[in-house]
Amino acid sequence: MQPAEVSRIGDFVDQSVLLKGWVYNIRSSGKIIFVLLRDGTGNIQCVIEKSSVGGEIFESASSLTQESSFEVTGIVKEDKRAPGGYELGVTDLKVIQIADGYPITPKSHGMPFLMDNRHLWLRSSRQNAILKIRAGVMRYIREFYDNRGFICCDTPIFTPNACEGTTTLFGTDYFGDRAYLTQSGQLYNEATAAAFRKVYCFGPTFRAEKSKTRRHLTEFWMVEPEVAFAHLDDIMQLAENFVIEVIEKTVETYRDLLEDVLERDIGMLERVKSPFPRISYTDAVIKLKEKGVDFEFGGDFGGNDETILSEEFDRPFFVHRFPAAIKAFYMEPDPNDAALSLSVDLLAPEGYGEIIGGGERVSSLEYLEKKIEEEDLPRKEFEWYLDLRRYGSFPHSGFGLGVERLLAYICGIQHVRETIAFPRLINRLSP
Ligand code: 4AD
Ligand code: MG
Repeated sequence: MQPAEVSRIGDFVDQSVLLKGWVYNIRSSGKIIFVLLRDGTGNIQCVIEKSSVGGEIFESASSLTQESSFEVTGIVKEDKRAPGGYELGVTDLKVIQIADGYPITPKSHGMPFLMDNRHLWLRSSRQNAILKIRAGVMRYIREFYDNRGFICCDTPIFTPNACEGTTTLFGTDYFGDRAYLTQSGQLYNEATAAAFRKVYCFGPTFRAEKSKTRRHLTEFWMVEPEVAFAHLDDIMQLAENFVIEVIEKTVETYRDLLEDVLERDIGMLERVKSPFPRISYTDAVIKLKEKGVDFEFGGDFGGNDETILSEEFDRPFFVHRFPAAIKAFYMEPDPNDAALSLSVDLLAPEGYGEIIGGGERVSSLEYLEKKIEEEDLPRKEFEWYLDLRRYGSFPHSGFGLGVERLLAYICGIQHVRETIAFPRLINRLSP
């Protein structure tokens, strides 16, 4: 008897296999029981006929309830009508544990209830699909950089200072000193870029933003490439190639999950091709005003502004050269207008908003010293960062892409809380 997994069941047609899993669904019509077995790799319908298994096995199959665990042996049959295309004609069945009163029933539940039961909710087909796609996206992200000679240099999570601004830091005690959870690996990436030229880091990132929106997590995963001698245009091109490749590979591999389980309009993703439109912040503000939005030049875009801007485009688009005043201290000033910075955001269409933020970094020691002072940053902690401008300063650029925001866009889901196994939100730390 051959142990098997549902995802590879097609290799075993007309053979006897042993499957292990849980009851996704069960129904019975007197002498025949249909159990939809979920083994984590997929689902298959198991058909248990009293006449072929005998009374005792039929009895134990009758005792199964939603999410009970069991082992089953049977013959794999191809059946076009069956979900997944195969069915198991059961010859033997062993109950492992009967689940009593599984809380998530096929009726609909409210979001707070589902979030409280996130540890169980992960078993449902929709959540399962999203997180399978997430694993693929993570893999394609790494492949993109690894295939292009980028060195993966992971950056620390405990840091002594802020990268993106001091108001959104999680602090923690570090043997009597103050440490913070990282907001971005960028500053360290700048050091490794000088050592390896093209680098990236990919890990969890923390923001104590009091933002209770569908786009904000307090813990999220960010991939951050950094490239020596790259300017703003180079990094935009890199971001464009990157997003196109990840989306293409994801659609290719996960077309069925996206279409059948998540009901994503794949056409929207197939439109993600070069070139991505590029508009300046200044033009974006003009567009917003034309659309009747009450927006002051100099402000940062809110979620609504991003949604309105994105209505113009059928694919992701860049907004570049934001006012220096609303961007981080490390942004290179625009040589044509020092009030602007060589910064860039990539916004996804369909209202998904910003998925990438980045730009060109300051390379002048004097300018950087001035910015650190102006923003009242602890100079001592930034000495090593200033060294990068003392010893072979170099133009360089990079960006960060938030995995959960990209996934929400790819999967067509409204809230980032469903794009990570155990989301951390301002009002949620468990399960
Ligand atoms: O725009 P951000 O803050 O940029 C940086 O951190 C740069 N230091 C990155 C770099 O240049 N190396 O964040 C980058 C991306 C955003 O575009 C968004 O996708 C994601 O990180 N992000 C969040 N995702 C979920 N929840 C949050 N609270 C997020 N904050 C940022
Ligand atoms: Mg940003």
